[in-house]
Amino acid sequence: MARLFDSIKINSLKLRNRILMAPMSMGYADEKGLVTDKLIKHYIDRAEETGIIITGHAYVEPVGKFNKGQLGIYSNEHIAGLKKLTKAVHDKGTPIGVQISHAGGATSSSIVGKTPVAPSTITGGKETPKELTESQIEGLLEKFGQAAERAVTAEFDLVEIHGAHGFLLNQFVSPLTNRRKDKYGGSLENRIRFPLEVVTKIREIVGKNFPLEYRLGSDDLNPKGITIEDSKVFAKELVRVRVDSLDVSGGLCGGQPSSLTGEGFFIPQAETIKKTVKIVVIGGGGITTPEFADKVIKDNKVDMVFIGRAFLKEPKWAANAIKKLKK
Ligand SMILES: Cc1cc2nc3c(=O)[nH]c(=O)nc-3n(C[C@H](O)[C@H](O)[C@H](O)COP(=O)(O)O)c2cc1C
Repeated sequence: MARLFDSIKINSLKLRNRILMAPMSMGYADEKGLVTDKLIKHYIDRAEETGIIITGHAYVEPVGKFNKGQLGIYSNEHIAGLKKLTKAVHDKGTPIGVQISHAGGATSSSIVGKTPVAPSTITGGKETPKELTESQIEGLLEKFGQAAERAVTAEFDLVEIHGAHGFLLNQFVSPLTNRRKDKYGGSLENRIRFPLEVVTKIREIVGKNFPLEYRLGSDDLNPKGITIEDSKVFAKELVRVRVDSLDVSGGLCGGQPSSLTGEGFFIPQAETIKKTVKIVVIGGGGITTPEFADKVIKDNKVDMVFIGRAFLKEPKWAANAIKKLKK
């Protein structure tokens, strides 16, 4: 029976315990998305005994920026700051992964300076986006690939691809935001095509031993949207294209849907995914206590937990949790 404080491996990466600090974008980067001292401090303050930290989503191209102060990874100019960040966290003995992302139709022209792009002209965010052409989609694959390459150069230990919370990859998968008539729209097989191409591209670039994680928007909580049954099919495909771990959260309903309450509000979805695949499955949502986190691992519902807001409230959440459980 595994416990929260037991080590675990994601591909070649050995983690000292099963606590993942959830990706949380704090708005601490500068206007170009460059790393600041404040951003570094935020993570080193939360590094003690944390299994792995995942940064808030970093945008892979300027038109994919979601909000002010968001971290960027769209140019080589970002590498030096990102390297400073990984070094600072590594000095605390903690691994760090970067979440790479594109906001697609969830952003607005006031942020990106032009009309946002998306799979279809459906208003997901504040305005109607432009539909991506097939050649623009091909270009985007390159952007994701280049971002992953920068992540490796900056010495991140893992790359997490953001496929949840209504951002671009999630917009491709959800029938609520994808009405395309080409090979990227219609059937589930077509709607998951672009995310799978992104994973394939990144795997090609980072090599077979580099830890690659996908944040799965497992459920839109809308009968016309992505269902957990769709996600079981998608999860198997993500394994086929060699993702090492799945961080299971919500889809277009977001990461903190008001309809879900209590500790572990996305654990049921993660548990279903864990029964479907044999790779590392991470679950969470609303977890505040070490006892709850330990129990979902003991009960074999998930392999790891993600902890978000509890880390904002209590920077030493991981160290305190391990101490309490080992007492
Ligand atoms: C301030 C804040 C920023 C967030 N930014 C991101 C993000 O960049 N990427 C992401 O996948 N989720 C993001 N989330 C969602 C969290 O990763 C997490 O899934 C959610 O907060 C639920 O977990 P919790 O109850 O442990 O906080 C954010 C949440 C908060 C509170």
